[in-house]
Formats: sequence, C-alpha cells, structure tokens
Amino acid sequence: MSKSKKTDTKSDASQGIETELMHVGRNPSEYYGFVNPPLYRGSTVLYPSVEKLKAKNQKYTYGRRGSPTVRSLEESVSRLEGGDHTVSTSSGLSACATTLLAFTSAGGHILVTDSVYQPVRILCERTLKRFGVEVTYYDPHVGAGITDLIQDNTQLVYTETPGSQTFEMQDLPAIASAAHAHNRSIVVVADNTWGTPLFYNPLKLGADAVIHAGTKYFGGHSDVNLGTVTTTSAHAEQLRLIHGDLGQNPGPEDAQLCLRGLRTLALRMERHWRSGLEVADWLAERPEVARVLHPARADDPGHAIWKRDFSGATGLFSVVLKPCSDAAVAAMMDGLELFGMGASWGGYESLALPFDPASYRSATRWTADGPAIRFFIGLENVDDLKADLDAGFARLRDVG
Ligand SMILES: Cc1ncc(COP(=O)(O)O)c(C=O)c1O
Repeated sequence: MSKSKKTDTKSDASQGIETELMHVGRNPSEYYGFVNPPLYRGSTVLYPSVEKLKAKNQKYTYGRRGSPTVRSLEESVSRLEGGDHTVSTSSGLSACATTLLAFTSAGGHILVTDSVYQPVRILCERTLKRFGVEVTYYDPHVGAGITDLIQDNTQLVYTETPGSQTFEMQDLPAIASAAHAHNRSIVVVADNTWGTPLFYNPLKLGADAVIHAGTKYFGGHSDVNLGTVTTTSAHAEQLRLIHGDLGQNPGPEDAQLCLRGLRTLALRMERHWRSGLEVADWLAERPEVARVLHPARADDPGHAIWKRDFSGATGLFSVVLKPCSDAAVAAMMDGLELFGMGASWGGYESLALPFDPASYRSATRWTADGPAIRFFIGLENVDDLKADLDAGFARLRDVG
C-alpha cells in the first residue's frame, strides 16, 4: 500500500518523508540530549538590557508572539509542506480566518468552492461580507473554468480537496494556473487537512497558502485544537502581520501534542488509508448503500485527479444511502457501539455523522435521493468496525 514519497524540502532531499517526520522540529543537543523539545509556557519574555529591549528582529519577544515549542511546530510544518513561513493558530477555523483576512480587503472579491468546510462559508457570509469583501461560490469541478469567474478585483481563490463531507476532487493545478495567468497577485489557498503533507503538496501544485486543521491528523488523538497556515516567501510577510494583529497563538501544550503527533503520522495515515478503503469497498457492496464518495475508489468521479495529485488516501469519506426514513438512520446511528457520533475526525477512534449538504450549497445542487453519512475510519480492527455497521444496517432495515 505504501507509496512512499521523497521530499524535496530544505533538509536532506534524499530522505523519505517518514524519516523527516522523525527529525523535524527537534534538536536534542539544545535540551541536554532529551529526545523531545521541552514545553515552553509563558507570556513575559525578559530582556537583559535596554539595548536588547530595543533590538529589532528578536526571535522571542512575548509569549503571544511565539515560543520555542510553537516555533518547532511551525518550522516542522514549513519543512513538510515545502513552504517558507508557517503561522499557527488556536484552531483549524482560526487558520482559515487568518488566511482570509490576510489576503482580502474592502472592495475585493474572493472565489470559494461550494464544497468548502461549512464554518468557512459562515465566516464569509457573516464576517467577510460585513467588511466589504464580495464572495462567489463556485462548482468544485470548475478546473480551468475558474477563469470565467475571476473579476478585476478578485484577490483570493479558496480550494479544499477533497471537499468537506462530499469529497469532490478539485483540479488545483488548473485552478491555480488559470488564476495566476489572470493576475499573479491572486492568492490561491488550499485546505490540506484531508491529504496531510504526506499525501498532497498544494504548494508544488500552484497554491500560495496551505491550511491545516492540526486538530485532525497532526494531533491524531482528538485532544487538540490547533491550525496552521504555510505560505511561499511572497506572501509570508502579509500573513505574519495579520497573524500578529489578530493576536493568534495556539496553546503550547497543543503545539507540543501536534509535534508529538507528527512522529506517528505516517504510521497512522497508512492504517487510516488501508482500513478506510476496506470499509468503503465493503459499504459499496451493501444493498442499503446507493453511492460511496471516496476518491481512491476507481469508480469515483474524482479518481483520476486523486491518482495524479495525491500519493495516498486517508480515513474520511461519505456514503449516500438508498432512500430511507430519518427514523431508520437514527436507529442505525444510535445503536453503533464502536463508531462515535460527533464533529471532527483524524483521531484514533472511528466516527459516523449524518449530514445534509442540500441545506447550504449555493453554486451547485446536492441531488442525492437518500440520506448521507460521513465516516471516519480510525485505528480499530476493521472486522469489528464492519460488524458494528452490519448490526447498524439491520436496525436501519427493521425501521425502514
Ligand atoms: C477541512 C477542515 N478544515 C478546517 C477545519 C476546522 O478545524 P477546527 O475544528 O480545528 O477549527 C475542519 C474541521 O472539521 C475541517 O474539516
């Protein structure tokens, strides 16, 4: 299953990313040989003299402006994404917000995929519009056709591949080159939470900024809220300034837990990929299931883009059920023993969540006849997960 990818980040280009994940963001010689970086908590940073107080370009000036723990994580993500600068924030959503505020201004216009993580849409509608930014949602399959939607005042194109909940694959190289051909200063943003730097590298495919909800796979244990944004050098200063203006800063424990999570990322992702695909294939054969939305499956409409742009898949996908009542779905869901029901994903435990994209789409229509469920396949034994779902389908059939 492993499609091990060599990285060409600024460290040793001959090393695989699995090796790099063991070494990024730590230097034991700086902390008495202890393997892991220590946890730095704090607000005040003391200056030994007035001269030092007045000096420019100091690495650490105040807890909110970064600590060694937080910088270790940021430098790690920059390396893994092949970017020049990373800022970290208190959640994935705050990373999305920081990015949108960094690269837009009153009178500007942005293009946002209709498949975007829904709270980003709410942020655009409720807040960005209030600050005079015009927002157009576009069909995630638009590809180079994005050209027709670009206006003279377009400042940013927001992508998310695959789409939240509905898993449409976006042709990022086509979108980025069309946007940049129109105006090189348009900032192309990619939310890479699903792919992780292990399987998808948006900066190499033309994006200018990459977002991660570190809450998911980086943390990996459902005990962290953190976000990151990585940019190329051209956009680093603008991002750095807004990040400071907004007072964005993750908790140091969360940064440390994400750093720790990176060490096992490759191992976990391999398992999420393998188990997720096995459960997706099993679900596709079920009589209760109309459609599986998983780009690594050969019958998925986005499979060709996945094969071209990704080097692996992860544990999150959706299914559309054949028409059945809400009560039947509730009977299935309520009795699940191994699958938890709740927001988020990327931890070690499997999750299932019913959803209805029809309620928030605007550029495209969600036409499925039956209800949809998003699954996150964790690290459990796959046969146990199938047995839990099998019993769930029996309850669903009983209610009808
Ligand atoms: C694709 C994507 N981006 C961003 C976020 C936001 O992350 P957080 O929950 O840490 O705010 C999520 C959360 O589910 C997500 O799925």
